[in-house]
Amino acid sequence: MASSALICETEQWKDLKAHVDDIKKTHLRELMSDTNRCQSMMLEFDGILLDYSRQCATLDTLNKLKNLAEAAHLKEKINRMFNGERINSTENRSVLHVALRAPRDSVINSDGKNVVPDVWQVLDKIKDFSERVRSGAWVGATGKALKDVIAVGIGGSFLGPLFVHTALQTDAEAAEFAKGRQLRFLANVDPIDVARNIPGLNPETTLVVVVSKTFTTAETMLNARTLREWISSALGPQAVAKHMVAVSTNLTLVEKFGIDPNNAFAFWDWVGGRYSVCSAVGVLPLSLQYGFAVVEKFLKGASSIDQHFHSAPFEKNLPVLLGLLSVWNVSFLGYPARAILPYSQALEKLAPHIQQVSMESNGKGVSIDGVPLPYETGEIDFGEPGTNGQHSFYQLIHQGRVIPCDFIGVVKSQQPVYLKGELVSNHDELMSNFFAQPDALAYGKSPEQLLKENVPEQLITHKTFSGNRPSLSILLPSLNAYNIGQLLAIYEHRVAVEGFVWGINSFDQWGVELGKSLATQVRKQLHASRKKGEAVEGFNFSTTTVLKRYLEASADVPKEDCTILPKM
Ligand code: F6P
Repeated sequence: MASSALICETEQWKDLKAHVDDIKKTHLRELMSDTNRCQSMMLEFDGILLDYSRQCATLDTLNKLKNLAEAAHLKEKINRMFNGERINSTENRSVLHVALRAPRDSVINSDGKNVVPDVWQVLDKIKDFSERVRSGAWVGATGKALKDVIAVGIGGSFLGPLFVHTALQTDAEAAEFAKGRQLRFLANVDPIDVARNIPGLNPETTLVVVVSKTFTTAETMLNARTLREWISSALGPQAVAKHMVAVSTNLTLVEKFGIDPNNAFAFWDWVGGRYSVCSAVGVLPLSLQYGFAVVEKFLKGASSIDQHFHSAPFEKNLPVLLGLLSVWNVSFLGYPARAILPYSQALEKLAPHIQQVSMESNGKGVSIDGVPLPYETGEIDFGEPGTNGQHSFYQLIHQGRVIPCDFIGVVKSQQPVYLKGELVSNHDELMSNFFAQPDALAYGKSPEQLLKENVPEQLITHKTFSGNRPSLSILLPSLNAYNIGQLLAIYEHRVAVEGFVWGINSFDQWGVELGKSLATQVRKQLHASRKKGEAVEGFNFSTTTVLKRYLEASADVPKEDCTILPKM
C-alpha cells in the first residue's frame, strides 16, 4: 500500500469486508463450543491473561486481521514511533511516551539525541523534591510541613494521574506510604470545583502543583490564579514560592506566572498530553502522595508492556491483538462503542482516562495525509466498575444495542473481606459477576430455554437474550503499582495500533480548538457587557438570545474589580 492510499482500498480490507457475512452467520454459542479455537484465543504475558474467545471472530478472522496489519505497515509504524521519528506530522513531533518509563540505561533517540538521560534527570529531581516534602525538609512559609497536595490541571494533565491515584489508594503498600497525606485534583474551571477542593485544607500545609503542558490552558491557569490568591491572601504573596510548583514544557510561562523555575518539573513536546501520566505530570503528584519508590514500580509495569509491544510477534502481542480486534468490531462488524468494565472499584477512573486517550486520539475524519475518510474511526468509550454498571446500563448491553465489552478482573483483591457464614468472600462475590457476565452476553437465553422454565407465553420475547454479543476478558494477578502501569500501557498502545491501521494521526487533537476559540469571543463579550454595559453583538440569533437572558438574570454580580473566594 502506498503511504497515501487509504487502508479501505486494500485487498486485505476488502477480504475482511467479505468475511463479515460468514461471521454474522455464526453464533458465539457455536464458536465457544470449539475448545481448540478458545484455547488459541488466550494469551498470557507477564502475569496478565487475555481471553478473547468471546469475540465474534474465528482463527481465520485473526489471520485476515494480521494481513490487514501488514497492509497497514503496522510493524514499521510501531518501529517509527519507538525510533523517535516525527510521526505526529501535523505538529511535527515525535511520539515518545515510551521513553518516560524506559530503564535508565536504555537509548531512545529523538532528533539524534538520546532522551532517556533527560527523562531520568527529571525523575531524579522529582525523587529528591518529593522526599524533601514528605520528610518535612521542605516546609511551607510558616515552617510547617506540607502534607496535602492539590494538583491543578485538566484533560491529560488530570485524568491519567487521577486514574493512577484512585487505583493506588487502597493498595496496601501505597496506602501505607500515603498515611497522613492527601492528594486532591482541581480540574474544572467551574468555581464549584475549587469550593469542593479547599475545605479541610490549610494553606499553611498545602502544596499546589500546577500541571499544564502548554501553561496556557484557560481552565488550568484560572484555577492556578485562584489558588495563588487562596495562598497569598492567607500567607502573603511571598508564600507562593514555597507553596506552588509546576509541571510543564513551557518553563518561560511558568516563571512569568511567578513560580520559581527551580521548582518547575519539565517534560517535552514529544509527550502528548493524554500520554503524559508517566512524565512529571503524574510522577510528581503521585510521588508526593505515595513516595517515588511506589511510582517507580508503576513506571516499570508500563515499561514491561512497552518492550512486549515493541518486540512480540503480532499473534502474541497484547496491544496489537486488542487493537486489531477493536478495528474488527468498529470497521467491519459496525459496533461503534466499547464498554470498559473493570471489576474493581480501584479502577473506577480507568474509563474516564481511556475516554480521552482513545477518543481524543482516534476520533478523526481525515487520514494522516489529510484525505477525508470514507470510514469511521475511533470508538465511543464509556464504562463503570462492575458490579455498579450492571445495575445501570447493562440492560442495553444485554438486550439493546451490541456493545463490545472489556471485562477487567483482578485475582487478588487489594482489600479482601471474609465474613463468617457467607458462601464466598466479598471479592469472590464480585468475581462471580466478572465470570458470569461475558457468558450471559455470548450465549444469551433462547425462547426454548424459557419455555422449559415455564415462563408465561407473553413474557417470552421480553425475557429472551439474543446472545452473540462480543466481549473480552483481562485477568490481572493483583492491582499494585506495577499492574496499574501494565494496564495503562496496554490501553495506550492498543489505541495507537487502531490509529496506525486506520491510517490516521492518533497524536494530534485539532478537534478541541474550535470550541476554545469561540469561548474566547464569548469571554470578551461577557466582560464588555458586564463592565461597560455593551450590547451583545456578533453572535447568531440563538446564542444572542440565551446570552442576553444569562446576562440579565445575573445582573447582580459585582461590577467593580474584586476578589471573592469560595465561602466553604
Ligand atoms: O483538551 C485539549 C487539551 O489540549 C488536551 O489534549 C490536553 O490534555 C489538555 O488540553 C490540557 O492541556 P495542558 O496540559 O496544556 O494544560
